[in-house]
Amino acid sequence: MTSTPSSSPLPISIQDLSFGYNKGEPTITHATFDVKEGEFIGIIGPNGGGKTTLLKLLMGFLDPWKGSISIFGQSPKKHPNGIAYVPQQLRFDKQFPITTFELVLGGRLSNLPWWGSFSKEDRERALHSLEQVHLSDYAKKPFGTLSGGQAQRALIARALTSNPKILLLDEPTSSVDAQAEADIHELLSKIRKNLTILMVTHDIRSVINHVERVLCVQGRVESMSPAELCEHFALGLYHFPLIQTPQSHLT
Ligand SMILES: Nc1ncnc2c1ncn2[C@@H]1O[C@H](COP(=O)(O)OP(=O)(O)OP(=O)(O)O)[C@@H](O)[C@H]1O
Ligand SMILES: [Mg+2]
Repeated sequence: MTSTPSSSPLPISIQDLSFGYNKGEPTITHATFDVKEGEFIGIIGPNGGGKTTLLKLLMGFLDPWKGSISIFGQSPKKHPNGIAYVPQQLRFDKQFPITTFELVLGGRLSNLPWWGSFSKEDRERALHSLEQVHLSDYAKKPFGTLSGGQAQRALIARALTSNPKILLLDEPTSSVDAQAEADIHELLSKIRKNLTILMVTHDIRSVINHVERVLCVQGRVESMSPAELCEHFALGLYHFPLIQTPQSHLT
């Protein structure tokens, strides 16, 4: 189920997954898909379609009603460090006195021993992550003073400090300008080596050249190649539902 005989377990394997917040009202229904090592996947879908819910299920924050989720062959709860998450909204008080370095270092919290002191390695890892997102010069600046795009890059750095194998991003470019968005896409293209990336986005047009596959989430989850999605664009069919039902003939 989670691996082929000749290969190691897949980063993500989902079989017939269903989940809902309220009994009787599924948010995700009968989702089945695999993600291969090193893939960069865009996740699209209408508001309320279940994109954030899907990421939370992958992180092990929510338990499926039905079906299975496997992360490298194991339950999501067994992978606190293998999978990192940049949330859609960070509830953060801009006045809170924390430097950008401290925010990024916080990504190492799950590595802390019980006596709770960051090691030299933790600090070096945080500095390296800041370098990766081109924010070394901002290490000592209060996080609250960063621009939207810089703050988003700092949050990506925070996620990278745990040295994840899978990076989940929930609309990292939704509140930044076009230049900052392009910077983030370029950054992700650079750091994607050794990473499997799933990124929720509302602007698939700007990532279509970066991603290898697109998951359309609206209760159901459908996998499409960028070429297939472009066909939808070309036909003027880029609206929801994108997922074909017996009633909706898209071709
Ligand atoms: N904690 C919760 N309790 C109850 N219902 C919830 C909860 N979180 C989300 N939902 C509902 O589940 C559905 C899917 O929400 P979700 O946040 O996954 O959508 P989304 O695709 O990420 O939307 P958006 O594009 O607006 O971010 C929505 O109907 C939402 O109202
Ligand atoms: Mg969401």
